[in-house]
Amino acid sequence: MRIDSFGGSMSVALTGIKPSGSVHLGNYLGMIRPAIAFQEKVDPYYFIADYHAMTQASDGEALHRETLELTATFVALGLDLSRAALFRQSAVAEVCELAWVLGCVMPIGQLERGHAVKAAKSAGRDVNVATMYYPVLMAADILLYDADIVPVGKDQLQHVEVARDLATKVNHLFGEGTLIVPEVSVREDVGAIPGLDGRKMSKSYGNQIPLWAPPKRLRKLIMKIKTDSLDVAAKKDPVSCNVFQLYKLFASEEQIAALAARYQAGGMGYGEAKQALFEAVDAELRGPRERYEALMADPAQLEEILAAGAVRANAMAQRTIKRVRDRVGLSPRIYGSMR
Ligand code: TRP
Repeated sequence: MRIDSFGGSMSVALTGIKPSGSVHLGNYLGMIRPAIAFQEKVDPYYFIADYHAMTQASDGEALHRETLELTATFVALGLDLSRAALFRQSAVAEVCELAWVLGCVMPIGQLERGHAVKAAKSAGRDVNVATMYYPVLMAADILLYDADIVPVGKDQLQHVEVARDLATKVNHLFGEGTLIVPEVSVREDVGAIPGLDGRKMSKSYGNQIPLWAPPKRLRKLIMKIKTDSLDVAAKKDPVSCNVFQLYKLFASEEQIAALAARYQAGGMGYGEAKQALFEAVDAELRGPRERYEALMADPAQLEEILAAGAVRANAMAQRTIKRVRDRVGLSPRIYGSMR
């Protein structure tokens, strides 16, 4: 909790996004757009989870580029930098230190049951230690900034629960108030975002629509969204249609009702629904796309934004890590040399 300049208290909201391939409409609808909408009500600390991305990637250049892409994405879409701290996870290395402390109270059995580990095992892949440790590092992300509230999609709920459990445990062992036990804010309204083939939009299925695709490509991809094969004359069901599911997330109430009526009346082909979807998506993203491109042409400015965010994040982190080190009995940290 922080006191704002008007003397009121503001909840610290903390959330992160992993840079892993180009950002797509699923990331936008599921995480980025809601996080930006949330900024009015809270003190936002949003970060790019580059340490987390490393559990799956070994291309430093790509990680660096994708981190800047996400930074430009948040800014282009309207993150208010006078309010929000936007930073790289790795800019505050104390998160690794806190992860160590948390690891000391984390039961290994629970990590072995985590979804990333299960998925890797069932795909026959070797599981590295960092993948297994993912939830502990994520708990450290949340707890390092004394977050009051963690806005996430349903898929991350299990991880936030781990953070709550660990904070409770640490407080029990080392004294109440060592860590803040955060609340979770789950976005119930946005369900799974369908990809081109109707399965959840995900890089791992290769069914994504890139958020910043230029209009021509965007339209081409939207035209590929899978539908049933009813002919133009047939009456159609909007609810079960992937195109309509996406349309609902971009259009106004009146537009949604109007398109639903056209589905139900018959006489409309899916091509027309797809064109309506394209127009709605493009209308929302046209302005941000231009800003995104301008930002990407100026990486130095993006680094400055991240540096300013890191300074703010670091101030919060230092406060927490000092408290934790004191309570658990670690030595005071020594900086510089003895002379
Ligand atoms: N695990 C999240 C994801 O894959 C990203 C993330 C890392 C995160 N640390 C976090 C989200 C802390 C919320 C809070 O999307």
